[in-house]
Amino acid sequence: MTTKKKKYNIPKGFSLLQTTLKTPEFLKHPLNFITENMKNYGGTYSSSLGGSTLILTQDPAFISYVLKENQRNYQKAGFAVERAIKYIGNGLVFSDGDYWRRQRRLIQPSFHRQKIVDLGANVLKTIQDNLVDFPEGKQVDISPIVHELALKILIKSLFDIKISTETMNRFSTGFSAAQDFLIKDINNPLRRFLYPINGKEKKMMAVVDEIRGIFLDIIQERKKRKGEFSDMLDMLLNSRYEDNGESMTEAQIIDELMVFISAGHETTANTLSWILYLLAANPESQEKLYQLASEKPVESLAMDVYMQAVIQEGMRLYTTTWSTQRVAIEDDSFGEYSYPKGTVIVPFFFGLHRTEKLWENALQFRPERFIADGKLAKYKHYFPFGAGPRMCIGNHFALMEMAYFLGEFVKTFKIKSTGQLPETEAAITMSADKVVLEIVKR
Ligand code: HEM
Repeated sequence: MTTKKKKYNIPKGFSLLQTTLKTPEFLKHPLNFITENMKNYGGTYSSSLGGSTLILTQDPAFISYVLKENQRNYQKAGFAVERAIKYIGNGLVFSDGDYWRRQRRLIQPSFHRQKIVDLGANVLKTIQDNLVDFPEGKQVDISPIVHELALKILIKSLFDIKISTETMNRFSTGFSAAQDFLIKDINNPLRRFLYPINGKEKKMMAVVDEIRGIFLDIIQERKKRKGEFSDMLDMLLNSRYEDNGESMTEAQIIDELMVFISAGHETTANTLSWILYLLAANPESQEKLYQLASEKPVESLAMDVYMQAVIQEGMRLYTTTWSTQRVAIEDDSFGEYSYPKGTVIVPFFFGLHRTEKLWENALQFRPERFIADGKLAKYKHYFPFGAGPRMCIGNHFALMEMAYFLGEFVKTFKIKSTGQLPETEAAITMSADKVVLEIVKR
């Protein structure tokens, strides 16, 4: 008896050979490359990588199907995730299956909106203290300054203790190095064969181990101290699994802390840098925020619909988490397409958020599109924080931090465009090469 080979209806796209030939073009500018293909293939196309079929899509219904409606058939696991776990640890962003579910259930309450508000006082103080030294001038690249500040805010929210500048610098350079190394590792698997010879991986692991060591010292010190602390570490140490009432091990807590920093730092810093760029280019919006910031205390400004709309519109135009990936556990189909297990689905959020089909004058900054009947408008085709059960756990924190920062910033400074257009750089998150603005104190 002959068994019939299953036929799948994979979207049109690139064969393995074509993908290989196109790789340099992709690596040169991933966003332009994928955007162009989306135009040519009508919003969904396939590609081939390392023996797997990839389906890239900016179809909101397909994205929602994979991330929400049929999310049980998808996992994160895949080659890139395996490498990320090696360097960053098995925290929420990378873990899968029952382990992920149990961790998410345990950690979710710590990120409840009210708990996040409790962290607000520290966030605000860190912003105010640091804005005092924010440079003024005709040509200031705000990107590295905002990155440094976002890291300080996150670290202060994780650990409400005094951390020396030297340790902060170690965190900052260590995390940047680990992320860069990870990207290179994923994009160029051949290079990996050289690691045992050139010692690069060993060097990288030493940096990671050093950061983990600092976290361990902080955890052990905290355990010895009595009293309440207003930080995420306290929340993690006090959370208990529903099934056995136990807490996480120190190694698990470190994994989660590593992931909070790697998922929460660049994303927020890049988003804020892009929003400042947009506000400099759109003085009326900046002025409107300034008026609001002059009238309201920052805590209520964060809830203001115009402030929220500015942030949403910023995240739409510059979606820092420009894509993600899911691997099909079993064969699946969506609409006219069908594909085998192991297929990697890549939602292309960046393209979706800029398509004229769904967003009128898509490339224009118009916060008003996020306001309907005086409330924040919600769109089913908008995923800046992902969707479904793996949606960003830090979204309330990020929104609060960004609103506090923008409120304090526009109150203190006026920014003007220098006419320099930042280049988008798409790695794990999408950053700007630099954001050069004119900054004047009010
Ligand atoms: C503007 C800032 C941020 C953006 C745009 C953003 C975006 C995202 C997106 C799109 C996802 C889903 C990824 C996927 O489905 O594969 C995600 C997941 C995640 N984010 Fe964020 N994020 C931000 C800030 C933060 C912050 C501040 C934290 C922590 C303090 C954080 C922690 C996480 C974690 C732990 C996950 C994984 C959740 C899970 O898989 O269960 N993020 N983020």
